[in-house]
Amino acid sequence: MRLFVLCLAAALIVPALARSDSLEGLERLIAAWLDSPHGDTRALSFTYWNEQGSVPESCAMCHSETGFLDFLGVGGHTAGQVDHPGTINSVIGCASCHTAEAHALDAVTFPSGVEVEGLGSSATCMVCHQGRQSNDQVADRVAGKPEDAVSEELAFVNIHYAASAATMLGAEARPGYQYDGRSYAGRFMHVPGADSCVACHAPHSTAVETDGCLACHRGVDELRDIRTQHRDFAGTGDRSGGIHSEIIALQSQLMDAIRQYAAEIAGMPIAYAGSFPYFFADPAGTGALTPDQITRENRYQNWTPRLLKAAYNYQVAAKDPGGYVHNPRYILQILHDSLTDLAGVTGLDISHLSRP
Ligand code: HEC
Ligand code: HEC
Ligand code: HEC
Ligand code: HEC
Ligand code: HEC
Repeated sequence: MRLFVLCLAAALIVPALARSDSLEGLERLIAAWLDSPHGDTRALSFTYWNEQGSVPESCAMCHSETGFLDFLGVGGHTAGQVDHPGTINSVIGCASCHTAEAHALDAVTFPSGVEVEGLGSSATCMVCHQGRQSNDQVADRVAGKPEDAVSEELAFVNIHYAASAATMLGAEARPGYQYDGRSYAGRFMHVPGADSCVACHAPHSTAVETDGCLACHRGVDELRDIRTQHRDFAGTGDRSGGIHSEIIALQSQLMDAIRQYAAEIAGMPIAYAGSFPYFFADPAGTGALTPDQITRENRYQNWTPRLLKAAYNYQVAAKDPGGYVHNPRYILQILHDSLTDLAGVTGLDISHLSRP
């Protein structure tokens, strides 16, 4: 396998190869890729459709190399769309990022319809890590419906997974539901040298080299302890943790507020579980679901517009565990605003919170 990839790589990537120090360097790079999530042939991301035999067009761009090449317009396909199902077990290989089309890619269109340009060698990352929903889809679903009326036409909207590019761009790409009359942080610029996907993530292993981070962020041993904003956003009275801990604290307060609203206003208690479609009916209102409650049939159905927006934002924060690095202000803002919106009708006291 390794030799095969090496030959394939050497043939495919002549211009890139010229920059790599030696064949040994290339071999190290391939080893890093083989150990990475992108090269993991057993991952659910590349095997989920095996029984079906092919990856549907709507999924293939991000879950199959052949689908991604189709999207890039390699081999006569129309660029910017996927016209054919993708191949199963087709991991994100060298060709995904090293065809002429991939090297030329510089702009990406996000689910909100916004096109962002000037992305350089992070453009390919941004195609697949952009998520599948945005503020705009949520706003469309709830448009014209009374805020607190249960509607059979509503269902949970899931941003999808690892939408780190959308998080990083914040209000430029609108991954979170953005409430009217509020302003939201745009792209997290951070510092030169830590301002793009591949500035922080090695493109082949996808790992983050932490030494560089800790050289600037002194006095901590763990990335999750990093903090430069010192206000008590979650109002816990404890500001000793990293900005990550503020996000986690707000997320947990938002879940409590969602549960209170569902029970008191939507007419059916709600609970969250770590699998699709994430929100389930919880008639006993305990918050703890038994395995037989985590089923499609028991999915939550008493959605009101207000509840859907809050649950959507909860998931945006929960499904990008790197949100505290990618764009901490934006994540704090959407969590804060969902809490405020629910509190407006449940009477929950949120006077301890502070919005960044
Ligand atoms: C815009 C890119 C994109 C599209 C389109 C997309 N996905 Fe994904 N999906 C991802 C990414 C990125 C991940 C990896 C998340 C991670 O790091 O675990 C993922 C993960 C998954 C997983 C694994 C979740 C887990 O818990 O490990 C499943 C299942 C999945 N997607 C299903 C689908 C289906 C079904 C479709 C089509 C209807 C689809 N995806 C379309 C980007 C996409
Ligand atoms: C997810 C995208 C992605 C995949 C998959 C990928 N690369 Fe790369 N590769 C990059 C990026 C980004 C760079 C850095 C380009 C730059 O700095 O402008 C790079 C750089 C390189 C270089 C230049 C030397 C270096 O280390 O920077 C070589 C050679 C290379 N890749 C070979 C490969 C081979 C072989 C594979 C398959 C085993 C592969 N790449 C898979 C994105 C990828
Ligand atoms: C063709 C789509 C595609 C491209 C291009 C792509 N990714 Fe991914 N990425 C995925 C999928 C799918 C997964 C999940 C793989 C798995 O579950 O093993 C993933 C996983 C990851 C992970 C690990 C997430 C986790 O759950 O631990 C990181 C980090 C990552 N990608 C960063 C990048 C970076 C940086 C780039 C650009 C250099 C990039 N990706 C380009 C689709 C893509
Ligand atoms: C400032 C450095 C930095 C930048 C810029 C950055 N990341 Fe990250 N990213 C991280 C760190 C650190 C983590 C790990 C966070 C943790 O788990 O505590 C991470 C986590 C991730 C994950 C894994 C989430 C998971 O499921 O565990 C993905 C995927 C990812 N980043 C993709 C990207 C993409 C795509 C970009 C560009 C749009 C990007 N990152 C930009 C530092 C960065
Ligand atoms: C050159 C110095 C420098 C490097 C290198 C650096 N950072 Fe930063 N970092 C900063 C500065 C300055 C800020 C404040 C930026 C702002 O708020 O706009 C910051 C902010 C942050 C924040 C948000 C903290 C908060 O309280 O909002 C996190 C998380 C973070 N950095 C993580 C990282 C990680 C992870 C890396 C390595 C991949 C890294 N940084 C590399 C200087 C650096």
